[in-house]
Formats: sequence, C-alpha cells, structure tokens
Amino acid sequence: MPISTKLDYTLAAQKIAFAPFEFQAAKAMIETGILRYIRKNKWSSISQITENLKLTEYGVTVLIEAGIAMNIILEKDNRYALSKMGMFFVCDKMTELNFRFTDHVCYKGLEHLGESIRKGKPDGLMVFGKWTTIYEALADLPDNTRRSWFNFDHFYSDQAFPEALPIVFKCSPKNILDIGGNTGRWAIECLRYSDTVKVVIADHEGQLKDAESNLRKENLLERASFYPTDFLKGIQKLPKGFDIIWMSQFLCCFSEEEIQNILHVAKGSLGKNSRLFILDTFLDKQKNPVAEYILRMTSLYFTCFANGNSKVYHSNTIINCIKKAGLAVKKETNHIGLGHTLLECINPD
Ligand SMILES: C[S@@+](CC[C@H](N)C(=O)[O-])C[C@H]1O[C@@H](n2cnc3c(N)ncnc32)[C@H](O)[C@@H]1O
Repeated sequence: MPISTKLDYTLAAQKIAFAPFEFQAAKAMIETGILRYIRKNKWSSISQITENLKLTEYGVTVLIEAGIAMNIILEKDNRYALSKMGMFFVCDKMTELNFRFTDHVCYKGLEHLGESIRKGKPDGLMVFGKWTTIYEALADLPDNTRRSWFNFDHFYSDQAFPEALPIVFKCSPKNILDIGGNTGRWAIECLRYSDTVKVVIADHEGQLKDAESNLRKENLLERASFYPTDFLKGIQKLPKGFDIIWMSQFLCCFSEEEIQNILHVAKGSLGKNSRLFILDTFLDKQKNPVAEYILRMTSLYFTCFANGNSKVYHSNTIINCIKKAGLAVKKETNHIGLGHTLLECINPD
C-alpha cells in the first residue's frame, strides 16, 4: 500500500525509530517458537501458546502485542495467527539468512557505522577483534558469525553460478584463475562441469584452508591449486597463462581506486585470447525493489565491517574502472541468479 497520509509517514518514521525493538522482538518470537506454534495452530489463545511453549503469560503477551504492531501476527477475538508477512520468518530462506547475517555478523557492531563513515574504516569489526578488514578475520570469527557470513555470501552466488557456468565454459577453458575464490564453491562447480579444466584459487590464506578442505571432501584436489595473497598489500602481478580470470562478488570488497589497480594487475596476466569474467550485483540492474533494498543495506555492511571504503556499486562505476584499467567489456549479461550481472572483459591491446 502506498504511503499517503501524515499518519502513515509518522508511523513509517516510528518504525525506524523503534527498528531494533522490532528486530529483537522478531528474534525472540522465532527463538521461543511462538511463530512456528501459531503457524501450526492457527488462531491460538495466549494461554494455549503459554502452556505449549512453557513460557510465561506475560512474556507471550508482550511479544504477541508487538507482533501485531509489526504486522507479523493477526488478531481475532483474542486469538492469534501468523500473517502472510510473518510466514517469511518461518519458511523463507532468504529472509532467514539475511536475518541471521544481521544478527550474528552486524547487529552489535552497527552502532559504529557513523564512526566508520567518519574514519573510512570498518569500526564495527572491533566487536570481534583488531583487524583491518573482515576478510583477514573470517577464519577466526566466532562459529555462528562465520556460519552466518558464509551462508549469506553463498546464498546469492550459489544461485548465480549454474547460470554463469555455460557462458564461461563456451570457450572450453583449460585453466581458470578464481580471484577471491573463498571456500572453493565456484572451483568445485567448474571442476565438476569439466573433467579436464584446472582451477587456481587466489584468496587470503584463511579462506584457502577452507577451500582446500572442501575440495578434498569432493575428491577434486588433483586439478586445483592455491595462491595465497592479499590484494591490499600492493600486489604488482598475478600468475599468467590462464584462459579465464574469474572474479565473483570480489570487486565489491574494494574502493574504486583499488578496483582499478586490481583490474590493471589482472590485465597484465590476460593473454590475447583470455577473458576476464566479473560476476557481481549492481544497484541499477535489479528487477525488483526487494533486491535493490537488500543491496543498498549490504553496502553498509561493507562500510561498517568489510573494509570501510567499498559498497555495492552502480554498473557504470565498475565499467568505468574496467575502461580506465585498459580493458574492454565484450558482453554484459544481466539478471543471472537473483540479480547478478556477468561482465565478459577482454584485453584490447
Ligand atoms: C564476498 S566474498 C565472494 C566469494 C566468492 N567469490 C563468491 O562469489 O561467493 C569476497 C572474497 O574475496 C576475498 N578477498 C577480499 N579482499 C581480499 C584481499 N584483499 N585479498 C585477497 N582476497 C580478498 C575474500 O576473502 C572473500 O573470499
């Protein structure tokens, strides 16, 4: 429903003023089992919920009353049911993973957002320890933080990879350099897709340990190798001789200036017939407002936790960096997976 009256604007503003209350109330309604209970037992009374979930009447009452204000719970004659919106908190994977990412990775540190913006540093990260970027820290974060970070990251790229594979493999590559290859999910997809392709994963050492262990589990280590590196430590060149250089959800981890440098270095290792494929999400290429909203909020994760100077970009920003690095975009494919764009780049020299 479009916002129209002054009262509607006032309520929308109050929803932001009380946003942490709504978040924590939703979390408590999930953790106490109230949402699942009223989904299964439509139009339950407070006493039924109280007895079945072994909670106090007071506790159930305050959460149910908040849930009604949040439009998660419906009320009829002192009985309660889950609303259509409430269903998303019980059975929608994306809502669940975004919620856990906010809870386990971002919630506590987000109060340092303003400082992060002032300093250009990810000050929210200090709730976990002393690191310059979250990528150095990933291997050492608390278990539930690590799990929620990886689940969030993988959810979006996992849905894009199967669609990207046939495009990337059109030229029958013999070898691929996967930059920012993380836990090896793209490498595993490639090694399964082709019986002969070889993949080198470049990333922080901590991530490569996970990648190695995942590839071992899949019995795919033979055609994989690892290139530990930190692109923020003044990297001058990359290994040469790859048919494909692959960067998925990687450039969003850097500022525009850093992206240009990385692309310049990547250009140096691209052969005449090689391709650089960039798979990323762009604010201006989304099909629906949900995807765009998630990406705009995700930018704040980059500010407060990831590195303090990167974001989800507009496509033109990245295309300009590609051009300034001396590369050319040969083909742009939009709407891959849930909202990725695949840029196929060549070295025109
Ligand atoms: C957002 S994740 C994307 C992972 C994977 N490519 C995907 O699409 O799901 C970014 C990856 O880039 C790596 N990365 C970020 N900054 C880096 C740096 N300075 N040096 C090396 N790797 C870096 C991270 O460790 C992480 O694995």
